[in-house]
Amino acid sequence: MYNEVFGLRPSSSSLPSPSTMAHSTMPLSGRPAADRSTELARQIGELRQEIDAALEGHTQFGEGCPRRLREAIRYSLLAPGKRLRPILVLLAAEACGLDRGRAMPAACAVEMVHAYSLIHDDLPAMDDDDLRRGRETCHRVFGEDVAILVGDALLARAFELLATEIMPAEVAVNCCRALAQAAGACQLVGGQADDLDPENQPETLEALTQIHLRKTAAMICVCARLGGIVAQAGEHQIAALASYGQKLGLAFQIVDDLLDAQGNEQQMGKRAKKDADRGKLTFPRLLGIEESRQRARQFVREAQAEIAVLGSGASSLIALADYMVERDR
Ligand code: IPE
Ligand code: IPE
Ligand code: MG
Ligand code: MG
Ligand code: MG
Repeated sequence: MYNEVFGLRPSSSSLPSPSTMAHSTMPLSGRPAADRSTELARQIGELRQEIDAALEGHTQFGEGCPRRLREAIRYSLLAPGKRLRPILVLLAAEACGLDRGRAMPAACAVEMVHAYSLIHDDLPAMDDDDLRRGRETCHRVFGEDVAILVGDALLARAFELLATEIMPAEVAVNCCRALAQAAGACQLVGGQADDLDPENQPETLEALTQIHLRKTAAMICVCARLGGIVAQAGEHQIAALASYGQKLGLAFQIVDDLLDAQGNEQQMGKRAKKDADRGKLTFPRLLGIEESRQRARQFVREAQAEIAVLGSGASSLIALADYMVERDR
């Protein structure tokens, strides 16, 4: 279930079992897997446009917002990110039977929190990066002071959006609670703190997995959960979405580490080989490229198996998981 991934061990116990392997190629919707991925690529393009339009609308701000701050917020948020987190919110809501438009405020809220986390992650005091989403990083263009404030503003705007636009109020409260926990001191922020702590760098796969789960998987997990929460899905469905999101999130950070080790800067829109330069422990450093890729694929198969309970509604989420692990940027 949701937390069992915390008990993962670097042993043959996480090699694919015949049952999960069979599941990964089984078309839940009755269509072959290749059709599902073509359909997903089309759908992703369409969803990105809808998300970008919504983000644009939600960051107009009034007269009270200083012009330079507004410019910097939009520079980073509206830059060409992959939008995988908001897409996940929308597809999870659809998988639970909701019209996706109703989940759009939650989708925008997670993208705002994610964008803030990237802006702060790139600051000189953190990863000190100069390239993000194919553009100079926020602090390089607008200064560190403004970049910090952009993060602050995006974080606040995310919760304003949930509180204002998600109905009924009880569902909005549940969304705020879930997102606050995922973004908070024990998850995203805690994971980032440990990731940066020179006194406490991980030495084992277990310790590294704990950091990946908090700094990255928690936000991906909450995307899947938010879709279920907004759709007012049942407890079991939301728990299944959470387990799916957590495993997918772990796979996602392993792939991020693989791309850092091997990827193409131009394609990724961010620098490569930064982890090695900083001496960071990563899955590829510990296990090698091939074994890390196998682990990521195994987590994705496990994630896909978790949402079998959603029936044919889960087919897009299954295809999205494959897409997220096979990505090249
Ligand atoms: C990058 O996330 C940061 C991680 C948690 C690994 P993405 O790879 O989703 O970045 P964007 O949103 O597409 O820029
Ligand atoms: C960052 O992980 C995760 C966040 C919470 C932002 P990385 O530091 O590896 O992300 P990139 O490689 O800079 O996108
Ligand atoms: Mg970082
Ligand atoms: Mg970074
Ligand atoms: Mg990285």
